[in-house]
Amino acid sequence: MKICVIGTGYVGLATAAVFAELGNDVVAADMDKGKIDNLNKGIMPIFEPGLKEIVERNAKHNRLHFTHDNKAAIKHGDVIFICVGTPPKDNWETELLYVENVAKEIASVIDSYKVIVHKSTVPVETGDKIRSVIKQHLKHEIEFDVVSNPEFLREGTAIKDTLEPDRIVIGSESDRASEVMKKLYSHIKAPIIITDIRSAELIKHASNSFLATKISFINALGQICERTGADVEKVAEGMGLDKRIGRAFLNAGIGYGGSCFPKDIQAFINISKNLGYDFSILKATHDINESQSKQYIDKVKKYLGDVHGKTIGVLGLSFKPNTDDMRFAPSIPIIEALQREGAIIRAYDPEAMGKAGQLLKIQFCKSPYDAAADADALLTLTEWNEFKRLDLRKIKSLLKNPLIIDGRNIYSLEEMKKHGFHYISIGRKEITP
Ligand code: UGA
Repeated sequence: MKICVIGTGYVGLATAAVFAELGNDVVAADMDKGKIDNLNKGIMPIFEPGLKEIVERNAKHNRLHFTHDNKAAIKHGDVIFICVGTPPKDNWETELLYVENVAKEIASVIDSYKVIVHKSTVPVETGDKIRSVIKQHLKHEIEFDVVSNPEFLREGTAIKDTLEPDRIVIGSESDRASEVMKKLYSHIKAPIIITDIRSAELIKHASNSFLATKISFINALGQICERTGADVEKVAEGMGLDKRIGRAFLNAGIGYGGSCFPKDIQAFINISKNLGYDFSILKATHDINESQSKQYIDKVKKYLGDVHGKTIGVLGLSFKPNTDDMRFAPSIPIIEALQREGAIIRAYDPEAMGKAGQLLKIQFCKSPYDAAADADALLTLTEWNEFKRLDLRKIKSLLKNPLIIDGRNIYSLEEMKKHGFHYISIGRKEITP
């Protein structure tokens, strides 16, 4: 099938690469010429495991092309995926300008039947908006259908999630478009849910909101565990074995970040308010999330005392492992708050130091050991596998003070006890040397 993908962010790139891998003829477009030039040279704009290999392979086999000419890409596709950014405005409403601009471009170019699919995370009723913008700007009467096909991929596992999704959601109000979409996905083994466009859009809001609520729920429980001497990891394990609950997304920590949950939860609170509903659970989800980083900063100050002039080693900056994405990373407010109080921050992250350098004025280190050297405390803010395998004896010998304040519960209490650390984590007992 001939496919066009507009927007080469996480969603657009993964979509383009995976549909090419499945044997389709894909043209992906982005307004950013520099990004397209790089993609054509095999340079990826983001760090994402497996992305470079799949892009290179399909480009080599002529199934995947990149262009900065949106209109040429639109002309190419029988199915057009809109994967452009939907950033939050200052009031947390979703900015739909880029989506609307693409809809106008589509209207100005198409001359035969097209299926226009929106994949970006957008407010419910955006499908109707796209349809009316296209109708308004069409030069001639041409048949087209709009489909909502929300994306559920996670950064860090984008390719795997796209190739092996839990489900495929297709919001379509035309049998013709539904058939095209079913054919397109016929090589992917996953249940397909075909529904109306608004329900499809709501499935995306609901899924992200529910997952974020799960995280805030376990973080709230972590507070209770700390006050009672219980262990949040054990509580999560015990809850998670109930098949109705499940263990996933019950990891307590410094809160969720990234380009999706923070903005999506705020946007959905807003959308609900505009629809006359006060979505109080989601407001609590957001408030608990905000308080996680504040509580963590308080912990650092409690155990380190006055941080002024103290050197703090930081392991992990990205909002989660296996990505270099720093958007809404909890490490940012934590580091900034400690710096405001005079702390000297020395940090290491396997992938995110480049992007972090544009946001934070801190010392970047060559390795986790370099970050620990002579530090008054070591903070772990992202659970990269690399940090789970550190030589802890070496870390202890390098630290000025054997204090680890773990924001992601990377280490077991037994391990910390064995090595003689003073170890503070989330929702678990304090370990003293
Ligand atoms: C999230 C969803 O998981 C995807 O299904 C969705 O497609 C995507 O948003 C999107 O809307 O585009 P992502 O933001 O890439 O994906 O990352 P997640 O793995 O969901 O993690 C989000 C945040 O929650 C991270 O900061 C992570 O550290 C935090 N988290 C996650 C926890 O604090 N505890 C957990 O148990 C799980």
